[in-house]
Amino acid sequence: MTQIRIVEVGPRDGLQNEKAIVPLETKVELVERLADAGLPAVEAGAFVSPKWVPQMADSAEVLARVRRRPGTAYPVLVPTGKGLEAALAAGVGEIAVFGAASESFSQRNINCTIAESMERFRPVAAGALAAGVRVRGYVSCVLGCPYEGEVDPGRVAEVSAALLEMGCYEISLGDTIGVGTPAKARAMVRRVAADVPAARLALHFHDTWGQAVANILACLEEGVTTVDSAVAGLGGCPYAKGASGNVATEDVLYLLQGLGLETGVDLEAVARAGGWISDRLGRPNGSKAGRAMLAKSA
Ligand code: HMG
Ligand code: MG
Repeated sequence: MTQIRIVEVGPRDGLQNEKAIVPLETKVELVERLADAGLPAVEAGAFVSPKWVPQMADSAEVLARVRRRPGTAYPVLVPTGKGLEAALAAGVGEIAVFGAASESFSQRNINCTIAESMERFRPVAAGALAAGVRVRGYVSCVLGCPYEGEVDPGRVAEVSAALLEMGCYEISLGDTIGVGTPAKARAMVRRVAADVPAARLALHFHDTWGQAVANILACLEEGVTTVDSAVAGLGGCPYAKGASGNVATEDVLYLLQGLGLETGVDLEAVARAGGWISDRLGRPNGSKAGRAMLAKSA
């Protein structure tokens, strides 16, 4: 049976967008609940400028407190050498650099051009690899940009190939503002897979227009086997106004179960974590499958 790997990004992509600072204990408990549910990777924070994203300022403390499960990866975002130093000091085993396929988004998100970002990431990736730390690469705005609109899939392929070349083991393709549709998502993945093997790609789709599950199905059919998602559909991007959260982990798990695809993740446990964090944040649970599962087991 085909195995699909889920990368849970709720504690980072989800929480980074919350206005009120989420207590450290809540962040730690969220990461632990998700890892205990069998998720193989739980993105636990970001070593970014606290002036840019205050919510992630305590990522080192989160990592220090989390009870780490053997076999679970706890990646963190790292955009600069300064971030790498802090991440290594926190004992991370995996980092992610994050670029974009749109110049305007790159400027707004990390304050440099795409070319400058690649120059900045190269030593970060090399430093991490030299320390025995795995490196993942993100490309944002693969299906549209909040400032520029349409994005050329050729540009997505070019940035993805550059990240692969600097040592990223996987390239996560971000529909940052959730505007993609299945036909467009499939065409984009096909174009990128001409330069980067589908087995090295991941799908990172936000669900603003409700198409994320359909987009994932279309791209799984192109041979991609890794999907990023956030429990309860948490999140958004502080530099992509109006974009909603990632596709909900519960919704992806229910899709995959229906396709007979293996993940090793306990949907019920993720749904419980989703109900719990939604209550804690005082926001509605953004996962339809999660709500249905909780109603069924109530
Ligand atoms: P900058 O202001 O251009 O650069 O920020 P700087 O080098 O002048 O640094 C400014 C200050 O930040 C300095 O402090 C640095 O020391 C400090 P000061 O001297 O003024 O006191 N600094 C740092 N502090 C902590 N950790 C660091 C770090 N680096 C510098 N790593 C920078 C450039 C990249 C740092 C900034 O723009 C930044 O942090 N951006 C992050 C934005 C972000 O986190 N966005 C959300 C994540 S991306 C996303 O959500 C998309 C994704 O989910 C995929 C998708 O959906 O598409 C991944
Ligand atoms: Mg994202």
